[in-house]
Amino acid sequence: MDFLELVTIRQSDRSYTDRALEPEKLERILECARLAPSACNAQPWHLIVVDDEDKRHKIAEAASSRALGMNHFSWEAPVQIVIVEEKPNFTSKAGGWIKKKHFPLMDIGIVAEHICLAAAAEGLGSCMIGWFNEAKVRNTLGVPDSKRIPLIITIGYTDKLVRKKLRKNADEIITRNHY
Ligand SMILES: Cc1cc2nc3c(=O)[nH]c(=O)nc-3n(C[C@H](O)[C@H](O)[C@H](O)COP(=O)(O)O)c2cc1C
Repeated sequence: MDFLELVTIRQSDRSYTDRALEPEKLERILECARLAPSACNAQPWHLIVVDDEDKRHKIAEAASSRALGMNHFSWEAPVQIVIVEEKPNFTSKAGGWIKKKHFPLMDIGIVAEHICLAAAAEGLGSCMIGWFNEAKVRNTLGVPDSKRIPLIITIGYTDKLVRKKLRKNADEIITRNHY
């Protein structure tokens, strides 16, 4: 599979089967996460792999809302990866202060996409979740109150077919040599 094909089949999968995730696949996905780039190589993340049923359900409870119809699929996923934002190193922090940019969130976006693309390469579905009760997730996993949790990623086998992507046209988002 070439890279364009991989990017095309990666999609937010919001339904998972009962099939368990093979540990070696999960290890390869985590290795792809570990190799992700970051500003000044700060790697300002901690990844919590949640596969314990009780904890998974607590995370799903924190991420889903029956009333809003949000994130109910999170109950089905056999694995959730919870990304905790860690302090960047001095150079990333100083560079971010000088240039008024918060590099850790960019870095976390990149590590998250590494995880989702790696999952797709392994024949797995995934979905990033940004809408959840952070305090409940923190409580469930023993994350200190001082730390932010920007994203959770669900991973598992899905029976959903690859959908056509809904995206802006290239001429709406790309120009050459001027804004
Ligand atoms: C930062 C971020 C947060 C997201 N949060 C949620 C979420 O809470 N629930 C959800 O169902 N999808 C969530 N998504 C998935 C997006 O809705 C999805 O990526 C987008 O609609 C494009 O569809 P695709 O991923 O299938 O290509 C999130 C995606 C990103 C990048």
